[in-house]
Amino acid sequence: MEFDRTALIRAAFVAREYAYAPYSHFKVGAALLTRRGRVFTGCNIESATYTPTCCAERTALVKAVSEGERQFAAIAIVGSMEGHRNTLITSPCGVCRQMLFEFGGPQLIVIMAKSETDYEEMTLDQLLPLGFGPDNLQ
Ligand code: THU
Repeated sequence: MEFDRTALIRAAFVAREYAYAPYSHFKVGAALLTRRGRVFTGCNIESATYTPTCCAERTALVKAVSEGERQFAAIAIVGSMEGHRNTLITSPCGVCRQMLFEFGGPQLIVIMAKSETDYEEMTLDQLLPLGFGPDNLQ
């Protein structure tokens, strides 16, 4: 599926502005593209008790699934410390890889961006080889 990578990354940067990260001060934004062409965005949301923290990727995913979308083509992720430019790529944590695998499948395109033009792109099966998913429970 063809799509505009620049626009998806831009949407992730906009979402990052809403990050609630008063403890880590690391702000993350994600933009998830459905196979039907809709975009759902998310930011990280932290908790004073730390553990319940929700990553940007899962925020976007639960927004999409809770609105009836279950098939995804790509996700763009941007992250950096508050007030700083993205000098490193932000790759999804293990929990998010697993949740993306549940719905995105191995071919989901993961775009980890420093800017709209500087990014790394991998498929989810490169990030989560031999992932355990719905097919394993058949
Ligand atoms: N975080 C994300 O939202 N996504 C990632 O891919 C990496 C980490 C968040 C969780 C926490 O709020 C902060 O970044 C520092 O780990």
